[in-house]
Amino acid sequence: MSDAVAEQGLIRRYRSARRDQRLAVLEGFHTLKHALRFGADLLEAVASEPEQLERLVAELAPDLAGSLVEQTERVAPEVLAELVPQAPRTGVVAIAQRRRIPPEAVLVDTRSAPLVLLEEPRTMGNLGACVRVAAAADAAGVLTTGPIDPWHPDALRGAAGLHFALPVAAAAAPPESDRPLIAIDPGGEDLRPAELPPRAILTFGSERYGLSDALLERADARLAIPMRSGVSSLNLATAVAAVLFAQRLSPREGA
Ligand SMILES: C[S@@+](CC[C@H](N)C(=O)[O-])C[C@H]1O[C@@H](n2cnc3c(N)ncnc32)[C@H](O)[C@@H]1O
Repeated sequence: MSDAVAEQGLIRRYRSARRDQRLAVLEGFHTLKHALRFGADLLEAVASEPEQLERLVAELAPDLAGSLVEQTERVAPEVLAELVPQAPRTGVVAIAQRRRIPPEAVLVDTRSAPLVLLEEPRTMGNLGACVRVAAAADAAGVLTTGPIDPWHPDALRGAAGLHFALPVAAAAAPPESDRPLIAIDPGGEDLRPAELPPRAILTFGSERYGLSDALLERADARLAIPMRSGVSSLNLATAVAAVLFAQRLSPREGA
Protein backbone atom coordinates (compact mmCIF):
# COMPACT_ATOMS: atom_id res chain seq x y z
CA MET A 1 0.00 0.00 0.00
CA SER A 2 1.41 3.45 -0.89
CA ASP A 3 1.97 6.06 1.84
CA ALA A 4 -0.70 8.28 0.29
CA VAL A 5 -3.31 5.51 0.39
CA ALA A 6 -2.39 4.65 4.00
CA GLU A 7 -2.69 8.34 4.96
CA GLN A 8 -6.13 8.63 3.37
CA GLY A 9 -7.24 5.53 5.28
CA LEU A 10 -5.94 7.03 8.55
CA ILE A 11 -7.76 10.32 7.93
CA ARG A 12 -11.03 8.48 7.14
CA ARG A 13 -10.74 6.35 10.31
CA TYR A 14 -10.16 9.33 12.62
CA ARG A 15 -12.94 11.38 11.07
CA SER A 16 -15.49 8.59 11.23
CA ALA A 17 -14.39 7.71 14.81
CA ARG A 18 -15.57 11.18 15.91
CA ARG A 19 -19.13 10.16 15.02
CA ASP A 20 -18.93 6.58 16.24
CA GLN A 21 -20.72 6.01 19.56
CA ARG A 22 -18.49 3.01 20.32
CA LEU A 23 -15.24 4.94 20.06
CA ALA A 24 -13.46 7.70 21.96
CA VAL A 25 -11.12 10.05 20.07
CA LEU A 26 -8.38 11.20 22.43
CA GLU A 27 -6.74 14.50 21.50
CA GLY A 28 -3.52 15.53 23.20
CA PHE A 29 -1.10 14.00 25.65
CA HIS A 30 -3.03 14.69 28.86
CA THR A 31 -6.24 13.19 27.48
CA LEU A 32 -4.39 10.10 26.36
CA LYS A 33 -2.40 9.87 29.61
CA HIS A 34 -5.51 9.85 31.83
CA ALA A 35 -7.40 7.51 29.53
CA LEU A 36 -4.60 4.94 29.68
CA ARG A 37 -3.98 5.45 33.39
CA PHE A 38 -7.62 4.60 34.06
CA GLY A 39 -7.60 1.51 31.88
CA ALA A 40 -8.73 2.65 28.40
CA ASP A 41 -8.50 0.04 25.70
CA LEU A 42 -6.33 1.80 23.10
CA LEU A 43 -6.94 0.92 19.45
CA GLU A 44 -4.40 3.16 17.73
CA ALA A 45 -2.27 6.25 18.39
CA VAL A 46 -0.23 8.59 16.21
CA ALA A 47 2.24 11.38 17.00
CA SER A 48 3.83 14.00 14.78
CA GLU A 49 6.89 14.02 17.05
CA PRO A 50 7.32 10.73 18.92
CA GLU A 51 10.49 12.11 20.60
CA GLN A 52 8.38 14.83 22.27
CA LEU A 53 5.88 12.16 23.35
CA GLU A 54 8.69 10.13 24.86
CA ARG A 55 9.87 13.19 26.81
CA LEU A 56 6.36 13.92 28.07
CA VAL A 57 5.90 10.33 29.19
CA ALA A 58 9.23 10.38 31.02
CA GLU A 59 8.46 13.68 32.76
CA LEU A 60 4.74 13.41 33.45
CA ALA A 61 3.68 9.79 33.20
CA PRO A 62 6.55 7.40 33.92
CA ASP A 63 3.86 4.86 34.88
CA LEU A 64 3.03 4.62 31.16
CA ALA A 65 6.60 4.26 29.92
CA GLY A 66 6.96 1.62 27.25
CA SER A 67 3.34 0.82 26.46
CA LEU A 68 2.30 4.17 24.97
CA VAL A 69 5.39 5.04 22.97
CA GLU A 70 5.62 1.53 21.51
CA GLN A 71 2.02 1.66 20.29
CA THR A 72 2.36 5.09 18.65
CA GLU A 73 3.05 5.56 14.95
CA ARG A 74 4.82 8.60 13.52
CA VAL A 75 2.80 10.79 11.11
CA ALA A 76 3.72 14.02 9.36
CA PRO A 77 2.38 17.20 11.09
CA GLU A 78 0.25 17.96 7.96
CA VAL A 79 -1.41 14.55 8.26
CA LEU A 80 -2.03 14.97 12.01
CA ALA A 81 -3.72 18.31 11.26
CA GLU A 82 -6.19 16.45 8.99
CA LEU A 83 -7.20 13.94 11.67
CA VAL A 84 -8.86 16.29 14.16
CA PRO A 85 -10.41 19.80 13.92
CA GLN A 86 -7.65 21.37 16.03
CA ALA A 87 -4.31 19.59 16.26
CA PRO A 88 -3.17 19.47 19.91
CA ARG A 89 0.10 21.22 20.78
CA THR A 90 1.48 17.95 22.12
CA GLY A 91 1.08 16.44 18.62
CA VAL A 92 -0.56 13.18 19.66
CA VAL A 93 -4.03 11.76 18.98
CA ALA A 94 -5.49 8.32 19.50
CA ILE A 95 -8.62 6.19 19.30
CA ALA A 96 -9.83 4.00 22.18
CA GLN A 97 -12.94 1.97 22.90
CA ARG A 98 -15.53 3.95 24.82
CA ARG A 99 -16.71 2.74 28.22
CA ARG A 100 -20.38 2.11 27.49
CA ILE A 101 -22.22 2.14 30.80
CA PRO A 102 -26.03 2.11 31.04
CA PRO A 103 -27.31 5.04 33.18
CA GLU A 104 -28.98 2.60 35.62
CA ALA A 105 -25.58 1.03 36.33
CA VAL A 106 -24.19 4.44 37.34
CA LEU A 107 -26.80 4.67 40.13
CA VAL A 108 -25.80 1.50 41.96
CA ASP A 109 -22.45 2.64 43.41
CA THR A 110 -22.87 1.82 47.11
CA ARG A 111 -20.36 4.35 48.43
CA SER A 112 -21.60 7.57 50.05
CA ALA A 113 -20.11 9.59 47.16
CA PRO A 114 -22.53 11.87 45.29
CA LEU A 115 -23.53 11.47 41.66
CA VAL A 116 -23.56 14.51 39.38
CA LEU A 117 -26.53 15.00 37.04
CA LEU A 118 -26.17 17.72 34.40
CA GLU A 119 -29.53 18.72 32.96
CA GLU A 120 -29.15 19.58 29.27
CA PRO A 121 -25.63 21.07 29.33
CA ARG A 122 -24.89 23.13 26.20
CA THR A 123 -21.13 23.42 25.85
CA MET A 124 -18.66 20.58 25.46
CA GLY A 125 -15.89 22.42 27.31
CA ASN A 126 -18.12 22.89 30.37
CA LEU A 127 -19.30 19.31 30.27
CA GLY A 128 -15.71 18.12 30.08
CA ALA A 129 -14.68 20.36 32.97
CA CYS A 130 -17.55 18.90 35.05
CA VAL A 131 -16.34 15.35 34.35
CA ARG A 132 -12.79 16.36 35.24
CA VAL A 133 -13.73 17.83 38.61
CA ALA A 134 -16.14 14.95 39.36
CA ALA A 135 -13.28 12.50 38.75
CA ALA A 136 -10.94 14.54 40.94
CA ALA A 137 -13.52 14.62 43.76
CA ASP A 138 -14.09 10.85 43.40
CA ALA A 139 -17.80 11.27 42.62
CA ALA A 140 -19.86 8.17 41.80
CA GLY A 141 -20.36 9.25 38.19
CA VAL A 142 -21.73 11.89 35.82
CA LEU A 143 -25.06 11.60 34.02
CA THR A 144 -26.27 14.06 31.40
CA THR A 145 -29.65 14.66 29.81
CA GLY A 146 -30.26 16.47 26.51
CA PRO A 147 -28.86 16.16 23.01
CA ILE A 148 -25.13 16.52 23.68
CA ASP A 149 -23.05 13.32 23.60
CA PRO A 150 -21.05 13.36 26.86
CA TRP A 151 -18.29 11.31 25.15
CA HIS A 152 -17.89 13.73 22.24
CA PRO A 153 -14.15 14.29 21.53
CA ASP A 154 -14.43 17.96 22.59
CA ALA A 155 -15.89 16.92 25.96
CA LEU A 156 -13.16 14.30 26.34
CA ARG A 157 -10.57 16.96 25.65
CA GLY A 158 -12.19 19.33 28.19
CA ALA A 159 -12.12 16.49 30.74
CA ALA A 160 -8.46 15.67 29.96
CA GLY A 161 -9.56 12.08 29.31
CA LEU A 162 -10.99 11.55 32.81
CA HIS A 163 -14.17 9.95 31.42
CA PHE A 164 -12.27 6.71 31.97
CA ALA A 165 -11.87 7.42 35.71
CA LEU A 166 -15.59 7.24 36.58
CA PRO A 167 -18.85 6.24 34.87
CA VAL A 168 -20.11 8.89 32.41
CA ALA A 169 -23.36 8.28 30.53
CA ALA A 170 -26.28 10.00 28.83
CA ALA A 171 -29.74 9.41 30.31
CA ALA A 172 -33.04 9.98 28.51
CA ALA A 173 -34.43 11.70 31.63
CA PRO A 174 -33.42 12.37 35.23
CA PRO A 175 -33.31 8.87 36.72
CA GLU A 176 -35.71 7.41 39.31
CA SER A 177 -33.75 6.00 42.24
CA ASP A 178 -33.54 5.74 46.02
CA ARG A 179 -30.84 8.43 46.07
CA PRO A 180 -31.86 11.85 47.44
CA LEU A 181 -32.32 14.30 44.54
CA ILE A 182 -30.74 17.67 45.35
CA ALA A 183 -31.27 20.68 43.06
CA ILE A 184 -28.25 22.97 43.11
CA ASP A 185 -29.81 26.26 42.15
CA PRO A 186 -29.06 29.95 42.84
CA GLY A 187 -32.67 30.36 44.04
CA GLY A 188 -32.36 27.76 46.82
CA GLU A 189 -31.56 27.95 50.51
CA ASP A 190 -27.91 28.35 51.52
CA LEU A 191 -25.95 25.12 51.08
CA ARG A 192 -24.42 23.62 54.24
CA PRO A 193 -22.00 21.07 52.81
CA ALA A 194 -21.83 18.92 55.94
CA GLU A 195 -25.61 18.43 55.78
CA LEU A 196 -25.68 17.06 52.23
CA PRO A 197 -27.10 13.53 52.44
CA PRO A 198 -24.90 10.60 51.41
CA ARG A 199 -25.39 9.16 47.90
CA ALA A 200 -27.14 12.31 46.70
CA ILE A 201 -27.80 13.02 43.05
CA LEU A 202 -26.55 16.61 42.80
CA THR A 203 -28.31 18.19 39.82
CA PHE A 204 -27.03 21.20 37.94
CA GLY A 205 -28.91 23.15 35.27
CA SER A 206 -28.01 24.27 31.78
CA GLU A 207 -25.70 27.23 31.27
CA ARG A 208 -28.47 29.45 29.92
CA TYR A 209 -31.70 28.36 31.57
CA GLY A 210 -30.69 26.66 34.80
CA LEU A 211 -32.71 23.70 36.14
CA SER A 212 -36.13 22.90 34.68
CA ASP A 213 -39.30 23.47 36.71
CA ALA A 214 -39.99 19.72 36.50
CA LEU A 215 -36.69 18.89 38.18
CA LEU A 216 -37.05 21.63 40.80
CA GLU A 217 -40.47 20.23 41.71
CA ARG A 218 -39.16 16.67 41.97
CA ALA A 219 -36.11 17.59 44.07
CA ASP A 220 -35.94 16.71 47.79
CA ALA A 221 -34.05 19.97 48.47
CA ARG A 222 -33.05 23.12 46.57
CA LEU A 223 -29.69 24.53 47.65
CA ALA A 224 -27.67 27.59 46.61
CA ILE A 225 -23.96 28.34 46.76
CA PRO A 226 -23.97 31.64 48.65
CA MET A 227 -22.57 34.46 46.51
CA ARG A 228 -21.79 38.13 46.92
CA SER A 229 -24.80 40.34 46.28
CA GLY A 230 -25.10 41.42 42.63
CA VAL A 231 -23.57 38.23 41.17
CA SER A 232 -26.29 36.15 39.48
CA SER A 233 -24.60 32.76 39.11
CA LEU A 234 -21.39 30.80 38.76
CA ASN A 235 -20.28 29.07 35.61
CA LEU A 236 -21.68 25.51 35.49
CA ALA A 237 -18.38 23.67 35.98
CA THR A 238 -17.34 26.10 38.71
CA ALA A 239 -20.61 25.40 40.54
CA VAL A 240 -20.03 21.63 40.28
CA ALA A 241 -16.49 22.09 41.62
CA ALA A 242 -17.64 24.31 44.50
CA VAL A 243 -20.29 21.84 45.71
CA LEU A 244 -18.24 18.65 45.29
CA PHE A 245 -15.20 20.04 47.03
CA ALA A 246 -17.16 21.87 49.73
CA GLN A 247 -18.67 18.50 50.62
CA ARG A 248 -15.39 16.65 50.30
CA LEU A 249 -13.55 19.13 52.54
CA SER A 250 -16.19 19.42 55.24
CA PRO A 251 -16.38 16.81 57.98
CA ARG A 252 -19.81 15.14 58.09
CA GLU A 253 -22.00 16.27 60.98
CA GLY A 254 -21.67 13.96 63.94
CA ALA A 255 -18.58 12.29 62.42
C1 LIG B 1 -24.68 29.29 34.66
S1 LIG B 1 -25.74 28.59 35.82
C2 LIG B 1 -27.35 28.90 35.14
C3 LIG B 1 -27.81 30.27 35.30
C4 LIG B 1 -29.28 30.39 35.00
N1 LIG B 1 -29.51 31.61 34.31
C5 LIG B 1 -30.09 30.30 36.28
O1 LIG B 1 -30.76 31.26 36.60
O2 LIG B 1 -30.06 29.28 36.97
C6 LIG B 1 -25.62 26.86 35.53
C7 LIG B 1 -25.93 26.02 36.74
O3 LIG B 1 -24.88 26.18 37.69
C8 LIG B 1 -25.42 26.04 39.00
N2 LIG B 1 -25.14 27.28 39.74
C9 LIG B 1 -24.45 28.35 39.32
N3 LIG B 1 -24.33 29.25 40.30
C10 LIG B 1 -24.98 28.73 41.37
C11 LIG B 1 -25.21 29.19 42.73
N4 LIG B 1 -24.73 30.33 43.18
N5 LIG B 1 -25.89 28.38 43.54
C12 LIG B 1 -26.35 27.19 43.14
N6 LIG B 1 -26.20 26.73 41.87
C13 LIG B 1 -25.49 27.48 41.02
C14 LIG B 1 -26.89 25.77 38.85
O4 LIG B 1 -27.13 24.37 38.89
C15 LIG B 1 -27.20 26.36 37.50
O5 LIG B 1 -28.35 25.79 36.93
